[in-house]
This record gives sequence, C-alpha cells and structure tokens, in this order.
Amino acid sequence: MNQTDVLIIGSGIGGLSTAIQIAEKRPDLKITVLTKTVENESNTRYAQGGVAAVWNEGIDSFEKHIDDTLDAGDGLCNLDAVRTVVTEGPQRVREIIEWGARFDKDHADAGYDLGREGGHSENRILHYKDLTGWEIQRALSAKTDELPNIEVLEHYFAIDIITQHHLGYVITRLTPGIECYGAYALNKHSNEIETFLARMTVVTTGGAGQVYRNTTNPVIASGDGIAMVYRAKGWVENMEFVQFHPTALYNPAGDNPVFLVSEAVRGFGGILKSRDGEEFMHKYDARKSLAPRDIVARAIDNEIKLRGEECMFLDCRHLDKDAFIAHFPTIYDKCLSIGVDPMHDMIPVVPACHYMCGGIRTDEMGRTNIRRLYAVGECTCSGLHGANRLASNSLLEALVFGFRTGADINAKIDAVTWKTGIPDWNASGTTDPKEMVLITQSTKELKEIMSSYVGIVRSNVRLKRAMDRLHLLFSETEEIYHTTTLSPQLCELRNLITIAYLITRSASMRRESRGLHYNTDFPEKQDFIQASLL
Ligand code: FAD
Ligand code: SIN
Repeated sequence: MNQTDVLIIGSGIGGLSTAIQIAEKRPDLKITVLTKTVENESNTRYAQGGVAAVWNEGIDSFEKHIDDTLDAGDGLCNLDAVRTVVTEGPQRVREIIEWGARFDKDHADAGYDLGREGGHSENRILHYKDLTGWEIQRALSAKTDELPNIEVLEHYFAIDIITQHHLGYVITRLTPGIECYGAYALNKHSNEIETFLARMTVVTTGGAGQVYRNTTNPVIASGDGIAMVYRAKGWVENMEFVQFHPTALYNPAGDNPVFLVSEAVRGFGGILKSRDGEEFMHKYDARKSLAPRDIVARAIDNEIKLRGEECMFLDCRHLDKDAFIAHFPTIYDKCLSIGVDPMHDMIPVVPACHYMCGGIRTDEMGRTNIRRLYAVGECTCSGLHGANRLASNSLLEALVFGFRTGADINAKIDAVTWKTGIPDWNASGTTDPKEMVLITQSTKELKEIMSSYVGIVRSNVRLKRAMDRLHLLFSETEEIYHTTTLSPQLCELRNLITIAYLITRSASMRRESRGLHYNTDFPEKQDFIQASLL
C-alpha cells in the first residue's frame, strides 16, 4: 500500500503544472505523479502550433480572444470559464517562461513572434518553432526535478480510482455523495496491481484520439481517465464533440499516430487546394483556409468524397524557403522523409482525430462531482471549448486550471486525511490471457467502427449501427476482463470501448448539428439544446 498526500495521474502539461503549483507552495506535502509510460510521452509533447495568449494589449485584447473562443465554441462555451482562461492565461504563460520554457522571438531582444491559427482574429500564438509542446514538456520536467516533494513514477498504469458512496452526503437531490481515496495502478515492471491512497486525487490523463483509426494523438491517448471517472459515476459531458484536425500528413503507408501539419502553416500563408491546384475553401467560409477547424475539416472531407480522392493538398510553394524551414523544421523534414518537398510539391493532407472537447465535467477550480477528485487538461470538460475548441487554447486551459486546482487543493487538503480499510485489488480467479489476438483484433474493429460511423459526418443509421456493434465488443471484452490477468492493452481496450460508447451515445442524444457534431438527419442548429451530460 502506497500513501501520498496528492496523487496525480498523468505527466503532461496538466499533471506537471498542477504538481508544481502544489509543490512550490506546500513543501510539506508529498505529491506522487503516475504515468503509464515515460514522463515525457504525452499529447503535450507533440503540440506544434503553440499557446494562445493575449500578449500585445493595444493591438489584441481579452475581449477579442474571448469572442474568438465563443465563436468557435458555437454557443456551448461557459462564458465564465472562457473569461477565466483568457484573462489569467498570460500570467500562467509568463510563469512557465520563468520556469525555463522558451518561445521564439521576432529577432534577438525583440518581442515574441506571435503566430496566427484558424479562428483567431489576431496574431496571439506563442510558439517554439513547430516543437512548442516538446519545449513546454521539457521545461516542466526540469522544474519538477528541482522540487524534492514531487515523485514521478513511470510505467504505472492507473486502472481505476478508488471511491465510496455516502448515502448520507448529498451533493444534489438526485446524486448520492461519492468520495475518492486514490487509485489502483498496475506496476508494469512487477505486473502487480498496487494501491495508492491519497488525500486528494487529480486525473490529468489527456485525450482519447486512439479511438479512431487516423489520429494525431500518440498511443497513450486512450481516454483512461474519462473512462475511470465515468465508471465511478463521475459526470462526463459533451463527448460528441470530437475535433478532427483538417491537415494531418497523408501517408499511404499508414502511420499511428499520423503526423500533424500545423495549422500555423496556414497561418503562415499555406493554401488548401485540390490535386489540380484549384482552391476550394471560399465555397465554405469567407475566412478560407483559416476558418475554424470544424469548417475546414468538413470541407476537406467533402471535397475528398466529391472528387473521389484520397487527400487534399496544402500549397506552400510560394512561401519563402528559409523562413519556412526556420518556422517549421520538423514538418519540413517529415515531408522530405516521405518524398514530398514542400517548396516544390503540394503537401498531401487528410483530416484526423485530434482533440476531445468533452470529458469529465469540472468547475472553476477543477473540481469534479466526486469529492476529493479533481481533473485538469484534455480529459476535462471545463466549459472553455463548448462545441469546438479554438486552436492553441488547450495548453492554456491546462496551465490555468492546473494553477487553480493546485490552489484549491492547497487550501483544502489540511481538512482531510487518508481513508482506512481500503482493500487491495482482488485478482483472484483470473488466469493469464491465452489469446492476445482477441484484444488486438477488437481494438482494430473498434477504430473501424468509430471511423466509419461516428466520424466527421454522422447520421442516425450510422450511429445506430455503431452502437449495435459496440454492444457486442463490450460484452466480449468484459468477459475477458473479468477472467484474465490485467494487461495495459486490455485496460486500454476496455477504456476505448467506454469512450466510443460515450461519444456515440452523446451523438445520438444531440438531435441537431452544432460545432464539431454534424448529423445529416438533423442538419440545423436548435437553439434550445444545451450541453449533453452523461
Ligand atoms: P497529455 O499531455 O496527453 O498527458 C496525459 C498524461 O497522462 C500522459 O503522461 C499519459 O501517459 C498519462 N496517462 C494516461 N492514461 C494513464 C493511465 N491510465 N495511467 C497513468 N498515466 C496515464 N494544443 C494547443 O494548445 N496548441 C497546440 O499547438 C497543440 N498542438 C497539438 C498537436 C498534436 C499533434 C496533438 C496530439 C495535440 C496538440 N494540442 C495542442 C493539444 C494539446 O497538446 C493537448 O490537449 C494537451 O497537451 C493535453 O495535455 P494533458 O496534460 O491534458 O494530457
Ligand atoms: C496545430 O498546430 O495545428 C495544432 C494546434 C492545436 O491543436 O491547438
């Protein structure tokens, strides 16, 4: 049995920034961070475009950033959450700069080189070449190493949070009180399931892009935290709003994850075209290639289907070669590696699953409906993104809510202690899996179902077909789960099935089209429909 003051599940920007906020102000507390592979493997590490923040007041303003965020969110943002993130964001960015994060400057000693992405009315994206996430993850890890009261445990796979229901404690009239006391985690070195008891627990497990065949998300992104919290009767919201990035690099060889061609490339002047060099975005939106992501992704999907093509193209051939390479060295090299020279060839692109706008419902301090349980980052639905996330707002969201969650934990932790009498994980009656192929095959099937029936364009019949097939996968997987020794692959499959169910169920419940959710049977927006809570 392990005992810690604060248990944080996840070591991306959400996890490490929360840990630092607590550790710096409360050196008396022990913070344990669990991460299922290595510390720096996360969605955070792959972020390219940057962090959106109002930096040039006078030219830009909080009101403009708020308006752009609300416009992208298509009527479902929570204005208070948007205002909080936008107004506190610059302070949080300054803080990570103090911790050592570097962002590109215009030239030596000048101000920051602020980029532009789809849906932003001003240049406000701070970036480090096309490796912003890698740089932030590096700086946060270095800062974490300086703080002796943070312990990061790699290769610990959290399986479930530990909760108890208290009928006497009522949060709302309908929901009995639930309290969280830590989590069970599989130590991947020993294959033992260990109990982590904590006074406060934070879930920061990131997104769930691996539920689709094509995704920009690394393989760790299997929605574990959302699934765990849902199993524990936590509130999960807005799961139908899955963001597809319009421009992942099309590689006929197939990659998992697919490589992202940052929206910043369009902000830099790249233009979307068809194979024959024809522009098409003017047919869909006056902002053309820089329209919000939902519009651009649907436009590309539509053009691919209309023209019977495999991909569309991003034309950068007119851009200055040296400046392009200076801004996008990784993208340039990756294109060359598959035989595409961006200065001579158009870059082939396809939409790919990129970001989960829905997730664990949290309030203004990162609290969930489960007492002593917080959530931060992409696994949450904080109210910032609504029906569609504005580009480069998610790193900012994680920093702001990491800070707020840390502050709330610091203020409240002294009033609670560890729960006693928690049983160890019971693995009796299970045997080693005989056929791993059942797990790998079911994972492939799941991705096919979601990509074919619950992708960018949905319909009632497709959603029903997905749900029927998901039921079968669910019952087959539950049987394996209850009879065999747990492996990360089996847990991930089980979590992905839960995520697929939540997306499909939420999509079926939304009888309209809005933001990232488009259903051909309900193509119009209905003004009375609000967030979907599961
Ligand atoms: P993550 O960074 O994904 O961290 C999750 C952590 O949880 C990982 O450490 C993981 O190992 C751990 N974990 C998960 N499950 C378990 C488990 N069961 N047990 C233990 N540990 C677990 N956003 C922007 O704002 N700007 C950008 O430019 C941008 N570009 C992007 C480019 C790409 C290619 C991708 C994929 C995303 C991009 N995003 C961008 C989105 C942004 O990177 C993420 O939303 C953000 O980094 C999420 O941070 P997080 O801390 O919530 O999750
Ligand atoms: C990108 O660089 O295009 C990704 C930005 C984001 O997802 O916010």
